[in-house]
Amino acid sequence: MKVFATRVIPAAGLELLEKAGHTVIQWAEPRELTTDERINFCKESDALLFAGGNKIDRPLLEHCRHMKVIGLLSVGYDNVDLKAATELGIQITNTPGVLSNATADTAFLLMLSVARKAFYQHKRILKGEWGFSTPTANLGIDVEGKTLGIWGLGNIGYVMAQRCKAAFGMNIIYHNRNRNEDAEINLQARYVSFEELLQQSDVLSVHASLTHETTNKFNMEVFRQMKPTAIFINAARGGIHNETDLIAAIEDGVIWGAGLDVTNPEPMQPDNPLLQMPTVAVLPHIGSATLETRNAMARVAAENIIAALAGRPVLNPVNH
Ligand code: DGY
Repeated sequence: MKVFATRVIPAAGLELLEKAGHTVIQWAEPRELTTDERINFCKESDALLFAGGNKIDRPLLEHCRHMKVIGLLSVGYDNVDLKAATELGIQITNTPGVLSNATADTAFLLMLSVARKAFYQHKRILKGEWGFSTPTANLGIDVEGKTLGIWGLGNIGYVMAQRCKAAFGMNIIYHNRNRNEDAEINLQARYVSFEELLQQSDVLSVHASLTHETTNKFNMEVFRQMKPTAIFINAARGGIHNETDLIAAIEDGVIWGAGLDVTNPEPMQPDNPLLQMPTVAVLPHIGSATLETRNAMARVAAENIIAALAGRPVLNPVNH
């Protein structure tokens, strides 16, 4: 059968699909598909492997109604109209688990980068500003022994907490829909209310999905409840924080700084004021972008598609 991939996919996934006898058509051009191109490829294919691009909305799904499955190369599925997919009988699958370590590593990297103003210091060298130094210049803050607040303690949040506990003996607090017994036992994590999370966190790391409830959750009203020395980390989805409020919160000293792997919109424009701030580190949504992890994700996405095309239950259903 024919599988259309919206990007060139990692070799491990391609090999699996081809070994299962499927033909994979990959979009290899360095530009986004037009709406008509997407529709035409979907019409001609039996499955879609979504590896990036514009939202999978109802109009596109209408053209995919003959498909058994759309396999996402991501854990997040906020870009899919799930209601429409379910109504049209299309199975959506994702790739949870395999990207938790790499994504948590990105959050960890951002935390330290903000605490030590690393991206800013790098820019100073590039601009020839290394120059004369004094013991009171270029100061960051320590994270050792501080309190890490996790908002959304799923797989990725758990690994972030684990890393911070092991490396820096950080105290872990968290707020989540459900209690996480593993974290409470193994990491001595303490469940707190959302307000306590804001008030007590030295580093607040967001690991929630983007939903109606989480959109714009971190706005000025929320930043005002945080410590003036707090670091805000978002390696989940850019829509969870309000960018205008975040800029004002850092400029006005409401919080210390922010590390973002995700922005709203993406890509972030080069003239964004956040990119000039000493206590801000921004990455271009590379949370899961390691060779090993992207191959593992492609393998999982391919296995889901192979199972669905063979009429077997998929491993990672997002809708039922
Ligand atoms: C994910 O897997 O959801 C990553 O953020 C890539 O979109």
